[in-house]
Amino acid sequence: MTSQPITTRISAIEDIAAQTRAYTLEATDGSELPAFSAGAHIDVLLGNDLIRQYSLCSDPAERRHYRIAVLHEPDGRGGSDYMHRQLQVGDELNIHPPRNHFELDMSAGNYLLLAGGIGITPIMLMALQLQAAGKLFTLHYLCRTPEQAAFRHWLEDTFGAAAVFHYSYGDAAKRLDLSALFAAQQQPTQVYTCGSEALLQSILDAADPLPQIEVSFERFSAVPVAEDAVSEAFEVEIASSGEILQVGEAQTILEVLQDAGHQIETMCKEGLCGSCEVELLEGKADHRDSVLNDAEKAEQNVLMVCCSRALTPCLKLDL
Ligand code: FES
Repeated sequence: MTSQPITTRISAIEDIAAQTRAYTLEATDGSELPAFSAGAHIDVLLGNDLIRQYSLCSDPAERRHYRIAVLHEPDGRGGSDYMHRQLQVGDELNIHPPRNHFELDMSAGNYLLLAGGIGITPIMLMALQLQAAGKLFTLHYLCRTPEQAAFRHWLEDTFGAAAVFHYSYGDAAKRLDLSALFAAQQQPTQVYTCGSEALLQSILDAADPLPQIEVSFERFSAVPVAEDAVSEAFEVEIASSGEILQVGEAQTILEVLQDAGHQIETMCKEGLCGSCEVELLEGKADHRDSVLNDAEKAEQNVLMVCCSRALTPCLKLDL
């Protein structure tokens, strides 16, 4: 099933921090936009087959517009460069409706929200939701300098002492001591984080020896494939027809399925967006996506066919 794009118009572009702009998008037909919750992102269609995922950072109660924030990375993969250089107020932009693979679990007793740089966008809405529910939380915002801290004044005004800013000024010794922060938690703590791969790894490493710390995260770049990961050939079986397809070492399941005529929705093709999810009926997948959490991967109920491979000789797919 393919979701229909929504045509929006950019109604405002604001510089909100160094190299960072916020874009306000409204439906061109003036209608309300689909509902979303904290942690949701939209897929933005940028032309030339560029599709990028950006977290929504506007109030979910406000359905007349969406807001996203984009850090300009001139040496990145091209999405932010296109957004910053090509787009102007009044331009049309096609998006796909919000998806949320980073839902806030409201059942925890204590929360740490850790945002690195532009990773603040999903985290700030989580803080709003926790604050509205009267939950105990602290938002730690890690940036190089205050000038790079998007939404700084809004965060200070909205969350007061619950928002703590950490500026490294490029000095590793000034970085937040994650191990000390986690060790100081007196009760089971749910950590939500969004930021660079390096920050995420530091958080996972610091949390690893501490059973009271549980980490949920979202990536916006492809998960690095382990150096020792092997990409052997395997088979997939199509449950509805019994058809057996061979997936070669250098092929993805997605490529093989599409070559065989199966319609699979895709956006990012690198395990980020969740659009190519297919139910797994038999076999074990080697999950290489950033969509499923560890528990979902262990369940082996679904897989992202754009990047996942097989741990068993055959995967039976519900197609
Ligand atoms: S196409 Fe985005 S996760 Fe597969």
